Amino acid sequence: MTSASLEREIGRRRTFAIISHPDAGKTTLTEKLLLYGGAIHLAGSVKSRRAARHATSDWLEMEQERGISITASVLHFDYQGFRINLLDTPGHQDFSEDTYRALMAADSAIMLLDNRKGVETQTRKLFSVCRRRRLPIFTFVNKCDRVGTDPLGLLDDVQNELGIRCFVATWPIRENDRLIGVYDRAAEQVLLYERTDDHGQSRPAARSLTLDSAELDEQLGATAAATLREEIELLDIAAEPPDWGAVARGEASPVYFGSALTNFGVDVFLERFLAAAPPPAPRESTNGPIDPVSEPFSGFVFKVQANMDLRHRDRIAFLRVCSGRFEAGSEATVSRTGKSLRLAEPQEFMARERTHGTEAVAGDVVGLHDRGNLRVGDTVAVDGTLEYPGVPRFSPEHFAQIRMEDALRRKHLDRGLRHLAEEGTILLLFAPSITGPVPIVGAVGRLQFDVLVDRLEREYSVTVRLDPLPFHCARWVQGPDKDIEKTAGAYGRRRVEDTDGHPMILFDNEWALQRSMSQDDTLTFFDVQPRKPVD
Ligand code: G4P
Repeated sequence: MTSASLEREIGRRRTFAIISHPDAGKTTLTEKLLLYGGAIHLAGSVKSRRAARHATSDWLEMEQERGISITASVLHFDYQGFRINLLDTPGHQDFSEDTYRALMAADSAIMLLDNRKGVETQTRKLFSVCRRRRLPIFTFVNKCDRVGTDPLGLLDDVQNELGIRCFVATWPIRENDRLIGVYDRAAEQVLLYERTDDHGQSRPAARSLTLDSAELDEQLGATAAATLREEIELLDIAAEPPDWGAVARGEASPVYFGSALTNFGVDVFLERFLAAAPPPAPRESTNGPIDPVSEPFSGFVFKVQANMDLRHRDRIAFLRVCSGRFEAGSEATVSRTGKSLRLAEPQEFMARERTHGTEAVAGDVVGLHDRGNLRVGDTVAVDGTLEYPGVPRFSPEHFAQIRMEDALRRKHLDRGLRHLAEEGTILLLFAPSITGPVPIVGAVGRLQFDVLVDRLEREYSVTVRLDPLPFHCARWVQGPDKDIEKTAGAYGRRRVEDTDGHPMILFDNEWALQRSMSQDDTLTFFDVQPRKPVD
């Protein structure tokens, strides 16, 4: 591949995630993006297939049983010359750590809001991650087929709640409380959709008109047409003006209105979003910013998943390519260990249906077969001195001790725990005791414990019981060992170590933690895992 064609290929990549609170319509919108991209032919198939236990983006059986999407998966397809890499993010809040990781791999995000609910808890949390990364955020206000909060009121809420400037990119057009179209401000066009009677399974026909056309009066009636003209005039005069430079810096968000269910407003949103969303940009590393086109291959692992297919007992590391081209057969180095790694043929993902991919460039996500060499956060690069900042590991809030039913399966348990900890499903900790280190598991959400028990049983044939421990927060800690011992020795605390030997202290309540942080001045506390092993 010449450097001009590499540049062209990278330039057409759009790698993004959808952030939303559960129920805002992420599955429905994803399905519509797939429908428009030609990746599926009838919308509704994701859901009906879920019912048939073959869901496109659900891997684990448990997810399918519970009907929630737990693990992040990657969907990729072509649309109007763009290569779309859609990082699916788990909707359930207990899996927000997976979502954080997916956002590390994204170049932009779609923030999906319910038109009656606006900003919700999960939206707020995920937005703050995007903010920290200065990701460009495109807002889609969904469910506008139903009457919701007044559009400008909703924009105000978003601005006040999230502190991001918002400007209207498309405006909903209603007729007797029914959504009939949107006004596209960039193209200065009114789009009126034809209703379909297939419940949004196919793309509706749209007619485009100018705001001043006489046909608009015929279609909407003179009064509604006049109202629309007034609304748009008011937007032009009084509302926040479009500022695409600020969008690129993550300081402002264009807002689109529509309905993922009826597809109204989805086509224009998708087109505008793809045109304005950034292709892969230089990323910060220990060697300075890495240009996606001119630097040789580099990337980082944002997710590891074991046993995706029990028949093969394989383990896949998901790597976001940050620069250059992934070439099967070439060598790269894992920066953390300094070990060289032969890049095998990548597995590309259309969720479960794996196809062998032959080409991956910056912006793409590849799945690599792994035999335990890779971990979440690892940089893999031709230049082994280069390291990306890594993927933060958040301190858990739930802790439990593991009890085994059958002591003879201890080795299997250890292997299972190690694998699942490397995936990031749980944090594996060890508490010192006279009989040897006692394994303790920590998780950000309780549901992760259910997943752990379920997967240990299913994938490692080990039956365990988890006894909850009375701790609710934890911090990694650095400082003189005797001071760590002293702090951890107080009532309601426990000293543990993670699998890298980093000491941690578990606290029974937030107040005790805060007190320790303000009083124990020889110690430094971290709420994300320190990168380097402590000497
Ligand atoms: P999620 O992935 O964000 O959790 O949301 P999902 O797409 O599953 O949608 C949640 C519910 O909201 C679904 O209804 C879905 O049909 C509905 N929904 C999604 N987009 C729209 C929209 O544009 N307008 C309206 N009115 N509803 C929308 P459900 O009753 O829970 O499921 P179902 O029986 O419809 O499948």
